[in-house]
Amino acid sequence: MNRSGPPSLPLAADEAAALLRFYVDAGVSEALAEAPVDRYMLDEAAAPVVTAPPAGDEPRHSPRADPRGAPAPVQPRAAPPAALPLDDARAAEGARAIAAACKTLDELRAALESFEGCPLRYTAKNLVFADGNPKARLMLIGEAPGRDEDLQGLPFVGRAGQLLDRMLAAIGLDRTSVYIVNTLPWRPPGNRTPTPAEHAVCMPFVERHIELVAPEVLLLLGGVSAKQLLHTDTGITRLRGKWSTYNNCGGRDIPALPTLHPAYLLRQPAQKRLAWRDLQSLQARLEAPSAG
Ligand code: URA
Repeated sequence: MNRSGPPSLPLAADEAAALLRFYVDAGVSEALAEAPVDRYMLDEAAAPVVTAPPAGDEPRHSPRADPRGAPAPVQPRAAPPAALPLDDARAAEGARAIAAACKTLDELRAALESFEGCPLRYTAKNLVFADGNPKARLMLIGEAPGRDEDLQGLPFVGRAGQLLDRMLAAIGLDRTSVYIVNTLPWRPPGNRTPTPAEHAVCMPFVERHIELVAPEVLLLLGGVSAKQLLHTDTGITRLRGKWSTYNNCGGRDIPALPTLHPAYLLRQPAQKRLAWRDLQSLQARLEAPSAG
């Protein structure tokens, strides 16, 4: 395209191809909404922060109601709030009250499905609630869903998830003997770093999730999970392999082991030996007569 202004629509095939190449080069690898938005036609000031399906539209994919069970009923989505709530603390308090009122995991999932206080839900394709066995003794907490997880509505199903499955298998575990959630149940767009406000409003649900599952032991996958659950700014390389205590669980302390995130191990395979040590420590704890 050798002109300076916006191209006139509809685009010729070569113009459309050039525009697509430009997007791919710029790192745009996926569509967020079903319908295209002509950004040239939007007044900058009036442009929405996030695009959302119109009120009453259905989610693009229905995630499973139960991690191993039947499909969930499709929930209509309402329009998003215009921006993050100004008072993040008040929003987190509201989330805490909603989460506390949930008496079962099904209620917690339903509460998240209708929760409108986190803008991530409007760019995510699916809620990623949990996977595995809610009666397991071990609960894993990851960071946030990635692209594959967002598409399938399940945590750790991409490359990092496959490595996680192999790590669990190395100590005789699989998804029938663990329960897996993330600190955020929706994918941050483009896998960007979640904001403190997003974590603040989602963590009450994670904390209630832990309370309802009441595991004997927690495995915290990566620095974000360790930071959120243990309320620390210490980096994962110093935290990993050291048993700590999660004590926000209805007064009951739960032993928690921070370890390296499988996605990090994919980038730094030499660090797998450290993760292996952590896994052995975890296995010993689970096999001890009075784990928990
Ligand atoms: N990384 C995470 O932390 N969680 C997932 O579900 C997938 C990748």
